[in-house]
Amino acid sequence: MLREAALQPGDQVVEVGCGTGRLTLPVSAMTPARVTGVDAEVRMLDVARGKDAAGRVDWVRGSAYRLPLGEGTAALVMMVMVVHLLRQRVRAFTEARRILRPGGQLSLWTFTPRHVEEFYLNPYFPSIAIIDRARFPAAPVLSAELRRAGFDEPKIQLIDEPRKLDIADVVDRVRGRYISTLAMLAPLEYRLGLQQLEEMLARDRSIRLTQRSEWAIITARK
Ligand SMILES: C[S@@+](CC[C@H](N)C(=O)[O-])C[C@H]1O[C@@H](n2cnc3c(N)ncnc32)[C@H](O)[C@@H]1O
Repeated sequence: MLREAALQPGDQVVEVGCGTGRLTLPVSAMTPARVTGVDAEVRMLDVARGKDAAGRVDWVRGSAYRLPLGEGTAALVMMVMVVHLLRQRVRAFTEARRILRPGGQLSLWTFTPRHVEEFYLNPYFPSIAIIDRARFPAAPVLSAELRRAGFDEPKIQLIDEPRKLDIADVVDRVRGRYISTLAMLAPLEYRLGLQQLEEMLARDRSIRLTQRSEWAIITARK
């Protein structure tokens, strides 16, 4: 993404839905551009600011539907793990296009429907796939929505990211409801699924689960 954007000093990068700066901070270390992280949640931005002692990033509260930046100001806008949370995606893409300069790049990173179907926690929480099927559209759907927002010829890249996770880490993640879908489950389903994982941990700490993430990275230019 950064290679394609070929950023120069003075260019502006905007991460919409930057959360706690998980990607914003590494991106700011990898480019000569100015980086702004926008998020709707003050608590997310507070955590991000706490990690940014050097003050490399501008952290700004704002909505994907009304970005706090002027028209034509950004060379690169990124939205990573955000489109599944947007109710009006075309509206958000139109707003991202507004702040891009001509030739500027929008980069969406999201999980594919295959990722949802093969998600490693599905055996423990059967409703995750039901909830996420509706939230994670296929890349061609997003591509069509980007065209409706005025972008031409979005490019789709699929990336497979297999990982092994220690059962202790899986239990920690689930206890912390590390994905928003876990917070949307019925309390009984959540408790039963967590109990199964905790029993596996108590039985054998060396158990590892395989997570096969499939990412869609969609790039569109203004
Ligand atoms: C799953 S987190 C991803 C955070 C970060 N991009 C990452 O990959 O670590 C999604 C973030 O999008 C933010 N968000 C959701 N809807 C938003 C909206 N309409 N406008 C701005 N931020 C939004 C949430 O507050 C949250 O911090």
